[in-house]
Amino acid sequence: MSAGDGAESDRRDSRYRLGILLSGRGSNFLAICDAIADGRIPDATIVAVISDVADAPGLNRAAERGLPAFPIPRGGLTRSEHEAQVEKILDSAGVELVCLAGYMRILSAGFVARWRGRILNIHPALLPKFPGLHVQRRALESGEQESGCTVHFVDEGTDTGPVVLQRRVPVLPGDTEETLSARILAEEHRAYPEAIQKVLRTLPRR
Ligand code: GRF
Repeated sequence: MSAGDGAESDRRDSRYRLGILLSGRGSNFLAICDAIADGRIPDATIVAVISDVADAPGLNRAAERGLPAFPIPRGGLTRSEHEAQVEKILDSAGVELVCLAGYMRILSAGFVARWRGRILNIHPALLPKFPGLHVQRRALESGEQESGCTVHFVDEGTDTGPVVLQRRVPVLPGDTEETLSARILAEEHRAYPEAIQKVLRTLPRR
């Protein structure tokens, strides 16, 4: 090994360790992966991808990319039992920042407290407008001229934690829930990597 190789592996070993929680297709997770690969998040590596849905497409993509992928189905477990299994993985992988990427479970106040300042979520609306579900439909119904996405820290509320960054898109005449969702999703894929790198600049090591 040359001296250069050693320096490179030291730098790589010191990267922040990300854990991803997802329930579905995982396009935001893949956007984060791609951003790590192409140097837009130089300070991070993904050490665990966890899903409460055993056959979530996003979990399969993680396995295909050679990342540690953990199905933790909720069936038969209480919320606290389920969260205990999730946290065991996060702890043993040494996760420092948890990124919710389409994770469809509400986290308990205890979980949020233990990871305070270390959990991010992405939401397809300009919070505080339209927290919760069916947000694009609600944005269209209320006649919004613009929408977008928000990356925020997770607190005990529903989509209420401190905002890291937002990206905006116009609502266009004739938009449907599908067309607006697609326009927002493209911005989500830019916003999440940007927000993660921003947070990592000041995140204390764990
Ligand atoms: C995204 O729209 C995200 O904002 C919301 O859930 C969706 C997840 O999509 N929280 P994907 O699984 O990342 O493709």
